[in-house]
Amino acid sequence: MTISRCFSLLSPLLSLLVLLTIVRATDNKPANNLVDKICKQTSGYSFCVTSLYSDSRTPEADQYTLAFISVGLAYIHANTSQHHISELLSNGSSHDHADQQRLQRCSRDYSNAVSALAMAYNDLNSETFFELADLAGEAARSASDCQAAFKGIPSPPLANRNHDLMGLCEICVAVAKLFTGLLF
Ligand SMILES: *[C@@H]1O[C@H](CO)[C@@H](O)[C@H](O)[C@H]1NC(C)=O
Ligand SMILES: *[C@@H]1O[C@H](CO)[C@@H](O)[C@H](O)[C@H]1NC(C)=O
Repeated sequence: MTISRCFSLLSPLLSLLVLLTIVRATDNKPANNLVDKICKQTSGYSFCVTSLYSDSRTPEADQYTLAFISVGLAYIHANTSQHHISELLSNGSSHDHADQQRLQRCSRDYSNAVSALAMAYNDLNSETFFELADLAGEAARSASDCQAAFKGIPSPPLANRNHDLMGLCEICVAVAKLFTGLLF
């Protein structure tokens, strides 16, 4: 076989390889298949992907690391929000008594969410996974209760925080399913 004959046989194969490489590179599904699987279970796929990939461990993470990441994200969010609410209350930015009461309800809600998520994190440290979904559900209900406190009020002050905490808890619930065998 001459060199040039050999090339003419190889070139279609090479073109195909180049094409496949391009197709793979432009395929914008998350690099970690578990993330795709988890996020498909949530109501906000791109919020879920963006949140999980905000942690540099995510591309290589197994389900255990993803459990720590997701609970950590929800915990930090709840903790930060709780401090934000305390500031709003102590700054006395609202002179409306009803508003103060709503904020106080939210403060209790977020304190409850922080406790539930701290417990979930401790569970993970002792390799306990069966309570994760319940505890994340508890934190999500707290955010939802805070949201309910401002029902009917135009532009409620904590709407984005409540929405994001519910979204982060939903990710925790989806991750929890990996441990119970409900998600394949
Ligand atoms: C919770 O938030 C406060 C204020 O933002 C911060 O000082 C504290 O370190 C946080 N706790 C944890 C465990 O991250
Ligand atoms: C509360 O007041 C402090 C000091 O005036 C200010 O820096 C902070 O941003 C305020 N916090 C909120 C949540 O309004």
